[in-house]
Amino acid sequence: MSIRRLPPELVNRIAAGEVVERPASALKELIENALDAGSSQVGVRLYAGGLELIEVADDGCGMAPDEMRLALERHATSKLPSDAIERVTSFGFRGEALPSIASVSRLTLESRVRGADGWRIEIDHGAAVGEGPAALPPGTRIKVEGLFDKVPARRKFLRSPRAEYAACLDAVKRLAMARSDVGFTLEHDGRRILTLQPADAPTRVAELLAHELDRHGVGIDCERDGLRMTGVISLPTFNRGVADQQFLFVNSRPVKDRLLVGALRGAYRDLIARDRHPIAALFLEVPLDEVDVNVHPAKTEVRFRDPSAVRGLIIGGLRRALDAESQRSAAREQAAAPVMWTSSASYAPEPGLSVAPPALREDQASFQPLSFVPQARAEPATAPVPSYPLGVARGQVAATYIVAEAEDGLVIVDQHAAHERLVLERMRAAREGGAVARQALLIPEVVELEEPDCDRLEGAAVELAEMGFEIERFGDTSVLVRSVPAALGKTDVKALAADLAGEIAELGGPLSLRDKLDHVAATIACHGSVRAGRVLSVAEMNALLREMEVTPRSGQCNHGRPTWVKLGHGEIEKLFGRK
Ligand SMILES: Nc1ncnc2c1ncn2[C@@H]1O[C@H](COP(=O)(O)OP(=O)(O)OP(=O)(O)O)[C@@H](O)[C@H]1O
Ligand SMILES: [Mg+2]
Repeated sequence: MSIRRLPPELVNRIAAGEVVERPASALKELIENALDAGSSQVGVRLYAGGLELIEVADDGCGMAPDEMRLALERHATSKLPSDAIERVTSFGFRGEALPSIASVSRLTLESRVRGADGWRIEIDHGAAVGEGPAALPPGTRIKVEGLFDKVPARRKFLRSPRAEYAACLDAVKRLAMARSDVGFTLEHDGRRILTLQPADAPTRVAELLAHELDRHGVGIDCERDGLRMTGVISLPTFNRGVADQQFLFVNSRPVKDRLLVGALRGAYRDLIARDRHPIAALFLEVPLDEVDVNVHPAKTEVRFRDPSAVRGLIIGGLRRALDAESQRSAAREQAAAPVMWTSSASYAPEPGLSVAPPALREDQASFQPLSFVPQARAEPATAPVPSYPLGVARGQVAATYIVAEAEDGLVIVDQHAAHERLVLERMRAAREGGAVARQALLIPEVVELEEPDCDRLEGAAVELAEMGFEIERFGDTSVLVRSVPAALGKTDVKALAADLAGEIAELGGPLSLRDKLDHVAATIACHGSVRAGRVLSVAEMNALLREMEVTPRSGQCNHGRPTWVKLGHGEIEKLFGRK
């Protein structure tokens, strides 16, 4: 066996496999270089999603001809002043990006240092094919053509120009948010897509995120133990089917870090359905020695010295902001609250954006029969309206919605969604205050289920008991239910047991006990709730309204939908053309 050094072209190819996966990753590296060069303006041009051409032009410091040659060599970098990798603040530091890209494309590098002449170097798949003088303004312009054209193994994994373009756009947005002080332009197939002037961070974020966030967003600014988090997140009711609008930054570096994404998810737990995703732009500032950015070739993941502190700051900070917002939604004095809910029905969402109900077994079942015979009950509006934020019940529509009159408008409540939330919050409060009140069944109920379901319930017996749901195994295919949570009232024990088994099967994975309990609680709450279709007495309706007013997070159901909407007097007048 003979050991030999790999030829440099091969080394670059191998590195390219790690650093440059697709046009968007090459683009990201080029923009990062432009930003590291101190540019104040970065122009990006793409053709066919970057498959045909990626061009990045900047007005940064530029390079002299011999620096350009060096820049194209592996492990040549100007960015490690004292060889202290722990303290880098530049995007780049590995000296790998340019040679890697140059090894899998035709690359033209043009650059000019202020006060000197410009120079051009052309590289074809790693081999220098020409150089000479170039005319360009001070700065650097890099053109990458035919990326992966000669690397079939890579080309196979590329997607359509459309999909590659989407990834490129995402890369530009992330870096443009990271550096709002820099101006950006983006052109695709000859069309101008973005023109961003230098701005402060909130302005830049607002330009690049769904504009609905000015009404459906919550501003974030918190600090703990030297960690700071700023940014904006969406209200739970304003969510998306894909997690493509989550922009996370650590010390101004865009990251797609699992810990951070997980913490964001955690903050919305039980406020949003599992298949829906919040929108967020969050900027974390962490002392340099608390974070290692050199753990991933594309530097999109980082390692924190104290991950739990970071997780705690994110979940705690976001949760507090969301809770404050949800209480505000139930308090009439705050003008923004009605806007928040009523507007959810009256704006045209961007494709993919949604405030619509997420699909959920339970709700599909209870909301299906819409072909009802019109039915409603009304209370005469004689009594003066006492000043309750959610008003007094005036009637019920389709045995599903409560219509109430408040001082400042008309309130419509989804009775099932609202009640479900109340039950969940009651159970959670009980759990936090110690044991959940349980209601022993006079005669324990034998529930027949399939054997795997019985196994699941038995396996989770301890956790379920904490929720007030006591079971025992009773033969191969049944369990004995001894008590149910008191918050439930009368309930169909068998259906609840079957649903819980299903829930546990779905959760399966390595979720923490607490996470599981919350999901289980949500399932139980759903069962204990007043169904759509149940006729309520006036007293019951008013009791529900009063409880909603004092319950935190009652503005949305467990799946992130609003539980009530308010039509202000002004809006009603508008509907009738009186205004
Ligand atoms: N747009 C640019 N303007 C000025 N200098 C540049 C530009 N692009 C690259 N360079 C120079 O070329 C060097 C090599 O760039 P390259 O991207 O390969 O490595 P890096 O940025 O140092 O590290 P990394 O591989 O982590 O990106 C840089 O260190 C920088 O000195
Ligand atoms: Mg670089």
